Amino acid sequence: MAQRRIALLGATGSIGRQALEVIAANPELSVCALSSRSQPLDALAAEHGVAHVQVGGDAAELLEVSEPDVVLNAVVGFAGVGATLWALEHGVALALANKESLVAAGELAIAAWKRGGGRLLPVDSEHSAVFQCLQGRARETVDSVVLTASGGPFRNHSHAELESVTVEDALAHPTWSMGPKITIDSATLANKGLELIEAHFLFDLPYERIEVVVHPTSVVHAIVRFRDGAALAHLGYPDMRVPISFALTFPGRSTTAVRPLDFSAGMSLEFEPPDRERFPLLSLAREAGEGEGTYPCAFNAANEVAVAAFLDGRIGFLDIAALVEDALAHVDGGSARDLPELVQADTEARRLASGRLAAA
Ligand SMILES: NC(=O)c1ccc[n+]([C@@H]2O[C@H](COP(=O)([O-])OP(=O)(O)OC[C@H]3O[C@@H](n4cnc5c(N)ncnc54)[C@H](OP(=O)(O)O)[C@@H]3O)[C@@H](O)[C@H]2O)c1
Repeated sequence: MAQRRIALLGATGSIGRQALEVIAANPELSVCALSSRSQPLDALAAEHGVAHVQVGGDAAELLEVSEPDVVLNAVVGFAGVGATLWALEHGVALALANKESLVAAGELAIAAWKRGGGRLLPVDSEHSAVFQCLQGRARETVDSVVLTASGGPFRNHSHAELESVTVEDALAHPTWSMGPKITIDSATLANKGLELIEAHFLFDLPYERIEVVVHPTSVVHAIVRFRDGAALAHLGYPDMRVPISFALTFPGRSTTAVRPLDFSAGMSLEFEPPDRERFPLLSLAREAGEGEGTYPCAFNAANEVAVAAFLDGRIGFLDIAALVEDALAHVDGGSARDLPELVQADTEARRLASGRLAAA
């Protein structure tokens, strides 16, 4: 059987490294291209026999020359937009970890997907779970979708305690080991906000039919409720190699190194509502999503600026939400007709957020 050739963008990151492990362990898969922002790729290219590599620069060029069967977009942030749009427009299967691109460019991405006609497979564990629960189900039978959130390291912190948490505290995620940006997003619940918008675009569901619940052990990744009162859940240990492998091998399902769940060892599954007051970024994301146009793009851009400032020690944890709220209140939010207009909206939101940072 011919191998599936994967272009792995963001190869040096947390998802990138795990993807290389999954690919190396599966004879059906190979890597044809690697990219990073600034880390060298020579050693990885030699190890995995990859001919095309790119450090920085335009992903489209790399994708044109390497002609992949699947693009795995594991870049972090808005920087992943170009690759997402390229794959969708060209009808090349897209395994999407870079949720920010679908959040920021949702309308353009869905239009490109319709024109291109390729596959769009989520790598985010919750969306992979929803995708799997929806397989073979008629659309009209679906009632709603529930995304689970671990609640992050500050699930039980009071508002007063959140004022003084450090970067180190925020980087200590209780269940997942991930890159720094998504780890901070998980601590603020902005990550679940981004996922809410991602789910809206991926599954064409209105926001009122997408719910978020806190589930501290991250064993249930998502639940789909159906109109007859039944609900299907997707369970597994929190390990990204599973959704990465699923996205790369769909419609097959290859073996992975991850052990199956052991229920007989004892397991309880707990759920609770998220606290929207202590974690306002969840509601801000919902409002930005419902605002449509470039509001989701602005939410993402301001959040990226705020998270970078928090990681640099320039602002406190609670300032992240304040900065995003302020930027959203001042952006125009009108729709973007093309990528240059979207980039303009992203730039404007970054300018607003940075301005507020400078004034603080
Ligand atoms: N980590 C997880 O478990 C997880 C789970 C679900 C979803 N995701 C999503 O997956 C994406 C990647 O997350 P991560 O945790 O793997 O991030 P990460 O560890 O920070 O890695 C980011 C990768 O993106 C590359 N990159 C950054 N900017 C780039 C640019 N302008 N052009 C090309 N490459 C660029 C980085 O290259 P350098 O190394 O050179 O900087 C690095 O390879 C994010 O969108 C995240 O939300 C991650």
